[in-house]
Amino acid sequence: MNPVRRPPPGDRPLKTLERVLSKAGAGSRTEARKWIAKGRVKVNGRVVTDPDEWVDLERDKIAMDGKPLAKETPAYVLLYKPTGYLTTYRDPAGRPTVFDLLPDRERYLFTVGRLDLDTSGLLILTNDTAFAERLNNPDYKVPKTYLVKASKVLDDEALERLRRGIELEDGPTRPAKVERLREAGGTKTVFEITITEGRNRQVRRMVEALDAIVLKLVRVAIGPIRIGDLQMGKTRELTKDEVNTLTKGR
Ligand code: URA
Repeated sequence: MNPVRRPPPGDRPLKTLERVLSKAGAGSRTEARKWIAKGRVKVNGRVVTDPDEWVDLERDKIAMDGKPLAKETPAYVLLYKPTGYLTTYRDPAGRPTVFDLLPDRERYLFTVGRLDLDTSGLLILTNDTAFAERLNNPDYKVPKTYLVKASKVLDDEALERLRRGIELEDGPTRPAKVERLREAGGTKTVFEITITEGRNRQVRRMVEALDAIVLKLVRVAIGPIRIGDLQMGKTRELTKDEVNTLTKGR
């Protein structure tokens, strides 16, 4: 029996070399260990004989008998993240992460951007680096829409400031779309905001600049894709059309 080795902490989904090979070669893990032990496997040009070495499928170049491993078929998964789940692959403190919600944890996927622990809503996971980079790149302006409940009544001028752009410590925000939905209990404001950037805690900080705090934050749409029928905590595959719409030039 091999001792169980924990993956090093970090945000990237790592797999053991043995697991990656057995999946790619559709052989058993025992067979994969033998291939590795025989020195048939290289990681980034270096022979690795430790089957428990952690590898990053997207970043490490893995070859067997001199042939690069075949790329996995691209996958695009939409998750309705509940609050209380971290957008990270592993939490050293053992708290639940969005990866715990995936039906197939073995599948190699990483998240496109992040949602705060206290934010719920849509999150995309993929194994396609180019797609992820494009979606995260503010120059492509993929709009993300959030439902916000703010801790006080925000007048029209306050919402207009959000629309025009607010000075934050890391620079002014780009113009945003803002739609007032209702005043909750006469003491709070519920509105939707659509932004094309994804800075750290951006919506929360924008609302804080108006001397209010965010009581509830839900990402209700990424581009034209809305939550629809998706249940909280569940996933569905994005359709080809959805993937194309998200990546087409704007
Ligand atoms: N803005 C935030 O403040 N938090 C999120 O999780 C997403 C956008």
